[in-house]
Amino acid sequence: MVNYEELAEELRTISEGVGYDVSILSNASALLWERMDRLNWCGFYLVRDGKLILGPFQGKIACTEIAFGDGVCGTAAVRGESVVVEDVHVFSGHIACDSASNSEIVVPVRKGGALYGVLDIDSPEFARFSDEDRVGLEGVVRALEEVLV
Ligand code: SME
Repeated sequence: MVNYEELAEELRTISEGVGYDVSILSNASALLWERMDRLNWCGFYLVRDGKLILGPFQGKIACTEIAFGDGVCGTAAVRGESVVVEDVHVFSGHIACDSASNSEIVVPVRKGGALYGVLDIDSPEFARFSDEDRVGLEGVVRALEEVLV
């Protein structure tokens, strides 16, 4: 199991003094990708013009726009809470960007009280993300929210 508290601290350290969100988010996706195992996609969708657009990520080419309410990402965005899916094939409306994905976690990211985007992590393993992962990743996202410009 990843030490999410250490990971959050490392994210704070590497983001210190970085003046651009795109740089912070790029390194955040790289850090998660490097430290977590059994992943096939890890990155961000960001709120723009009333929808979610593809942000910095690691993994295969992905869909560039997701409407609020669509897929796991759009569902987490509308609910304003994390969504953990043990089997994406039975999640109604799941958007299959990478056919290798079998489970997924999406954590909303906020800035200034408003929804800023979502962190989306996919795994080729079914039920890859436990409740401990959810709590840990929510902690990492809280650290991210503090360092976003
Ligand atoms: N599976 C996601 C779409 C994004 S890709 O996984 C990168 C969803 O249903 O929201």
